[in-house]
Amino acid sequence: MPLDANPTIAVIGCGTLGTALATGILAPKDTSDSPKFTIKHLIATAGTASSKRAASKTPSPNTNADVVLLAVKPIKREDVFSIPGFKEAIRGKIVISIMAGITTAELARLIYGNDDDDDNDEHNNSNERVNLQAIRAMPNMAARIRSAVTLYTSTPTTTPSTLSFTHWLFTQVGTAQSIPEKSFDICAVLVGCAGSLLLLVIDGLLDAAVAEGVRRPEVQDLVVNSAIGMMRLVPEAGDHPGLLREKIASPGGCSIRALLELERLGVRSAFTGAILKAAERSREMSGSR
Ligand SMILES: NC(=O)c1ccc[n+]([C@@H]2O[C@H](COP(=O)([O-])OP(=O)(O)OC[C@H]3O[C@@H](n4cnc5c(N)ncnc54)[C@H](OP(=O)(O)O)[C@@H]3O)[C@@H](O)[C@H]2O)c1
Repeated sequence: MPLDANPTIAVIGCGTLGTALATGILAPKDTSDSPKFTIKHLIATAGTASSKRAASKTPSPNTNADVVLLAVKPIKREDVFSIPGFKEAIRGKIVISIMAGITTAELARLIYGNDDDDDNDEHNNSNERVNLQAIRAMPNMAARIRSAVTLYTSTPTTTPSTLSFTHWLFTQVGTAQSIPEKSFDICAVLVGCAGSLLLLVIDGLLDAAVAEGVRRPEVQDLVVNSAIGMMRLVPEAGDHPGLLREKIASPGGCSIRALLELERLGVRSAFTGAILKAAERSREMSGSR
């Protein structure tokens, strides 16, 4: 059945990302993209009482959801799915998960059990499991300022209207792109984790200022804004960031000395290695409970 233009959505886990997404879709951007959706009701849930009080700033009428957005930590998924009635309530609904490393196959397992579980025969044989519409997505923290990049992939039975809704949802907090699930782990860590590595770079640059007797707050904006500006030049510079780097590093200048020092320290391969470790962990996560 095509998704209604005014769906009800339940956000399970209104933490940092869940709240950013809820906030984005309740106050949609004025885009020319179509189709447009308007959220009829948003149901927000959290774990502890203090988070529930924070989440209660968003309206949460007690009504059935068309879409369930899973935004709890991956390690908490079994706790959520073992809540009495939760699996039953989620069956037949559109499921969008932003849990890092959790594949669409693992989402099917959480909802319907293992393929070979005897006591799940009823559900495994049902059309519901076969027709599961599950989306695995990876936004990043910049969703808080509507500047996230979100990747998503889906089960083959996901309908075009559900994919339109998914695209609309993540576009409210930035840009969104569909990719095949086989590329998901490496691409997801590039959008979900690489930012934390870049923050480490900024931190290291600021340490140099401190070492030279300049306070961090005096230079933090300078460093951050020049990094943002430089990154925005990359798409214009051609198909390799090295081209831009070459233009900046003049013969006999300061930049080439700094770059050579980083190469001596193995920084480039350290970044590659770190991202490969993160992708390896992402691949493991569906298996670790
Ligand atoms: N942070 C990132 O940059 C990032 C990027 C991409 C994807 N993700 C993914 O996004 C998801 C959320 O990450 P986050 O950083 O937003 O985490 P977070 O701030 O810790 O939010 C998780 C939320 O889940 C709630 N929760 C815990 N147990 C629950 C339960 N049984 N029922 C309902 N809600 C429950 C928590 O409530 P309490 O605090 O009250 O326990 C909290 O509000 C994770 O799966 C993560 O892998 C995160």
